Amino acid sequence: MVTPPAGSFQTILIIDLGSQYTQLIARRIRQLNVYSEIVDNHVTAADVKARQGIIGLILSGGPNSVYRFNSPAIDPKLLRCGVPVLGICYGLQLMGRMLEAPIEEARRSEFGKTELWVDNLEQSLLFTGLNPNLICWMSHGDVLTEAPAGAMITAHTDATPVAAFENRRHGVYAVQFHPEVTHTPWGIELLRNFVYGGCGARGDWTMGNFVEMAAEDIQSQVGEDGEVICAVSGGVDSLCTAAIVDRAIGQRLHSIFVDHGLLRFKEGDKVVDAWKGHFTSKLTRINAGGRFLEKLKGVTQPERKRKIIGREFIKVFEEQAQRYKRAKYLAQGTLYPDVIESSGIGLHAHVIKTHHNVGGLPRRMKLTLVEPLRDLFKDEVRKLGLELELPRPLVYRQPFPGPGLAIRIIGEVTAERLRILRAADKIVRDEIEMAEMTRPWQYFAVLPAVKTVGVMGDQRSYGYPLIIRAVQSEDAMTADWSKIPAKNLERISSRIVNEIPGINRVCLDITSKPPATIEWE
Ligand code: XMP
Repeated sequence: MVTPPAGSFQTILIIDLGSQYTQLIARRIRQLNVYSEIVDNHVTAADVKARQGIIGLILSGGPNSVYRFNSPAIDPKLLRCGVPVLGICYGLQLMGRMLEAPIEEARRSEFGKTELWVDNLEQSLLFTGLNPNLICWMSHGDVLTEAPAGAMITAHTDATPVAAFENRRHGVYAVQFHPEVTHTPWGIELLRNFVYGGCGARGDWTMGNFVEMAAEDIQSQVGEDGEVICAVSGGVDSLCTAAIVDRAIGQRLHSIFVDHGLLRFKEGDKVVDAWKGHFTSKLTRINAGGRFLEKLKGVTQPERKRKIIGREFIKVFEEQAQRYKRAKYLAQGTLYPDVIESSGIGLHAHVIKTHHNVGGLPRRMKLTLVEPLRDLFKDEVRKLGLELELPRPLVYRQPFPGPGLAIRIIGEVTAERLRILRAADKIVRDEIEMAEMTRPWQYFAVLPAVKTVGVMGDQRSYGYPLIIRAVQSEDAMTADWSKIPAKNLERISSRIVNEIPGINRVCLDITSKPPATIEWE
């Protein structure tokens, strides 16, 4: 995590006790415009007192039982170090144990959405303004059967007599459920009550502060004369990364934009335009389309296409990077979800990641990574993009696969087929953007590898059909096909067959994911 100059921001310290949600807690605190920092459980009360600006502590959850040998513990003095403490899940149990409340293994463990009843609503700080009956997300085995001495129970469930407790006089707060996950939709309000009501946050931390802090971190990482190279793809992640590094070290950043010729209509030019006026450092665009097409000749297998493109990308990048022999660092737009994916959830996730982050580069080139976005989630990066004054269309660009149009051209990728798809894709996107509907999450055109018979004028035609693909999704894991209004579909169809020679039929993909995937390859 980027670190602020001591004492310059009000800070909530999150003590990580092994929860998979620790970063999510940090994200929620950032959403409340408060700076937060994650530390391990070795932090002591003396550390907290010595550091200016700490206004509260949060103990994250964790998969452990307080009874297990070697389960994570904290300095007991942290509960009396002058700032309020909020324990979440395992954090509640740990606090309960330290404050000598009775804990038992639950008769039945609670997992998932659970009904919660608030007790002592009038006196509770955490539940201020919330309903007395709520649905929360639970995931635990042990339960506290009584609140610690001096504390009051503020919520219970069927199986958990102490689902929350508070001792406002001592600034001690704890919840058994997870307020940070989206399945506890009102959880952000509870965290707000803690951070503002309990800790007296001012809420003056912004993404602008993040930029300053991240830039300072980069300066200290690379030193006074360190040089950094960065692969820019046109996506918001790599542009934001480059923008922050550019702010930090200016012309010591060397950015390389490998244009593989598989981008959408004028996309490469837009990246170059966005650079102008925003960056002090130079962007080198390498037009390598011919090279990629050569390598893709005769290739029809989707995974082979991906591999060839990934490999060629690295080759071109390496050749270019040779020019910057003094650069010992590689800036990468890794986001927090990528960090989780790379720790191995699902094969496909891994495939996506390897290309996205130009995987393999740092190891081959013996470069040290600079990853200013690695604690952030996608929506936060977009906020950052606006803060960095990058053009809105690039900041809100729909997801676009690393291998580009090559995986939307079924069968062989040729210059002619690329030309057809690029033109059709532009029409599909322009028309959908004009439609009166919620903007789909992803919308594009696909060119299949079959030809069908049509009639144009008095002539028989034999051309490609064009597929319209538009989906609604949150995270690409699942997706629903978008219901584009008929009048817009009609316009798309008529424009495509009239304006693009080679296409004589337009189809709509009406499959969700699963069973289909979003892309056709
Ligand atoms: P699928 O087709 O698996 O796509 O439903 C899910 C999301 O991932 C994107 N995608 C890729 N992104 N390299 C990428 O960088 C790839 O090889 C790749 N394949 C799919 C796709 O656009 C969608 O957003």
